[in-house]
Amino acid sequence: MTATTFHQRVDAYRHRVEQVIVGFLDRRFEAGSGKNERLESAVRYAANTTGKRIRALLSYATAEALSLSADVADQPAAAIELLHIYSLVHDDLPAMDDDDLRRGQPTVHKQFDEATAVLVGDALLTYAFELLSEGDIDPGVRIQWVSQLSRAGGAQGMINGQAVDLEGETRVLSLEELKHMHRQKSGALIEASIDMVAAAAEPTFRECLQGFGHHIGLAFQIRDDILDVQGTTEELGKPQGSDTDNNKSTFVSLLGLNAAHDVMHEELQVAKDQLDRLEALGQTVEGLRWVSDYIIHRRN
Ligand code: IPE
Ligand code: IPE
Ligand code: MG
Ligand code: MG
Ligand code: MG
Repeated sequence: MTATTFHQRVDAYRHRVEQVIVGFLDRRFEAGSGKNERLESAVRYAANTTGKRIRALLSYATAEALSLSADVADQPAAAIELLHIYSLVHDDLPAMDDDDLRRGQPTVHKQFDEATAVLVGDALLTYAFELLSEGDIDPGVRIQWVSQLSRAGGAQGMINGQAVDLEGETRVLSLEELKHMHRQKSGALIEASIDMVAAAAEPTFRECLQGFGHHIGLAFQIRDDILDVQGTTEELGKPQGSDTDNNKSTFVSLLGLNAAHDVMHEELQVAKDQLDRLEALGQTVEGLRWVSDYIIHRRN
């Protein structure tokens, strides 16, 4: 640990995960015989866009909190970001949210075409697991990571959340359903980004971190719902008002802006209580506190 603040380390962590992703893609595409140029450029187009890398930051901040080397977080961080990008590419398709802008650029199906966007998503999802399977980390740890990420990204996690999100366009979800849906569609990957790094930690530390992830994941998606109403397309880099246009069930549509803010802050507080517990046990939680505040104050 250095004397710098987490804020000063954020750019370095973003750069670090991007290097892991780009290094992986370079190896894949140089090795492949008969590779398809269009698919390669579309995969690189999706992967090179500048996301906030919040999930990666959570992985690195978790490593800090457990006094682990950042090396331990590289594969979980990169794999989750790849899987997350796939989820965005598919989420934007006409069959889902039908959005034309992502991270300030045309969505993959707009820049290329729908079939290519489906394939880019398939490729990134598969790459996430291939990346986890590589390297000289203990095989038991790698199997654990694969299991955690498949559960978080699969039909009992993110995919079910996406299914219920679409259902929420035709019927108003209850508050409980909405919370559960948010915890699945966004919270599951956020929780995994923390728990994949914490899996080998002392049980009490891991339990605190799991509690933290559970609540910050919901706060993250409530902020996303709020930004759909309060942000601008320019700031967001994605179309403001997409949820309203699609008649989505969101925290804002169900509760209104003020109550949505209140619930977000309640979730933040419960998440931070877990960090206080961890700190009282002697761990350094400055990074996780920083990411928590970033999640609820972000403008995109
Ligand atoms: C957007 O996630 C999709 C949701 C789960 C709401 P982010 O807001 O983390 O998107 P990027 O990665 O920074 O573009
Ligand atoms: C997307 O939720 C969640 C996933 C991509 C799994 P949203 O549909 O709210 O995300 P944005 O607002 O398009 O980024
Ligand atoms: Mg969506
Ligand atoms: Mg969307
Ligand atoms: Mg949204």
